[in-house]
Amino acid sequence: MRMEVAEDIYWVGAIDWDVRTFHGYTYTTHRGTTYNAYLVLDEKVALVDTVNTGFGQEMLKRIGTLTDPTRIDYLVANHGEMDHSGAIPEVMKTAPQAKLVCSKKGEQTLRQYFGDQGWDITVVGTGDEIKLGQKTLRFIEAPMLHWPDSMFTYIPQVALLLPNDAFGQHLATSQRFADEVDECLVLGEAAKYYANILWPFSSLVIKKIKEIERMGLEIATIAPSHGLTWRNPRQIIEAYLRWAQGGAEPRVVVVYETMWGSTRHIAHALVEGIQQEGVEVSLYALPTSDRSDVIADLLEARGILVGSSVHNNDMLLNMAAFLEDLKGLKPIGKIGAAFGSYGWGSRAIPHMEEKLRQAGVELVEADLSSQFAPDEDELEHYIEFGQDFARKVKER
Ligand code: FEO
Repeated sequence: MRMEVAEDIYWVGAIDWDVRTFHGYTYTTHRGTTYNAYLVLDEKVALVDTVNTGFGQEMLKRIGTLTDPTRIDYLVANHGEMDHSGAIPEVMKTAPQAKLVCSKKGEQTLRQYFGDQGWDITVVGTGDEIKLGQKTLRFIEAPMLHWPDSMFTYIPQVALLLPNDAFGQHLATSQRFADEVDECLVLGEAAKYYANILWPFSSLVIKKIKEIERMGLEIATIAPSHGLTWRNPRQIIEAYLRWAQGGAEPRVVVVYETMWGSTRHIAHALVEGIQQEGVEVSLYALPTSDRSDVIADLLEARGILVGSSVHNNDMLLNMAAFLEDLKGLKPIGKIGAAFGSYGWGSRAIPHMEEKLRQAGVELVEADLSSQFAPDEDELEHYIEFGQDFARKVKER
């Protein structure tokens, strides 16, 4: 299968139907992913990005249905992470005359990954261009979206933006355009991708979108390096601006980890109170809930409540991992509180509060702890807290 994303520009990537965790950490890819590479056919031939290690021959075979792969003149590496650079050695072996084009940081990354291979490397920065014939490759550096080396390639003659990881989704499908699949599915995967990968860089996302708008670039199509291509680019640009600016719904995410069920009882009482105020709420137990799905659900929720029972005078380990993850992701514009049961003294709640604070969550005043099991009065207090928290979330 191959696909023309614009005149004489073809998707020649690979579909990874099987991958279920990405990059070796706990970002789950329930629906697989794709590694998108794009072939630009002109007087000169350019390949923009490659595919993950292990998919190189599949990509070269796909290129071979369009042109002789030995004809590649330029190999653009928008980003050095291995899911896009993994097949560079195979391409450079096939077309050793090709110039490898990357950012300054990209050159460093590629040298550190692959050593000195004697490749002919051309370093480019924002505004630099390479003329292929009718078409031009124009480069826009995009540091920390999401690595220091990241850059975008823009082809003005067809108003096509190739932004690598930005605007991507982990979604393996036989379709290649976002408008060909269910909108909730593709935007849901784009949101999960944003929350788990790009959330910490939200201020840079806003700056980059504004910079591109100032450049006055017409953009008809955005073809990222994962998932589907956007033929309605405003849809994903506006979603990115909303997420980056902390746009959220009056909704609450409750996450907890329990040993003997008491913290679960508190969580359910909180949920009851929130629901009584007519506010939407999601409840997740750790570790049986998927952490990256919880993070995705939190993206557009205003409130977060986290709870844990106590082990070794601290929170349980899955909650510790969740909060550590959250601290790194720096969610925007959330209010929250911590809760839990304890046996004989606990640092769990203050430690959870500290992690929430470090994540940038604004803490509301709360007294949400029970010794061993919560009694009826305490449960009533938690329901009332849930109501009060829901009202605060609505007022935001
Ligand atoms: Fe899809 Fe940063 O690699």
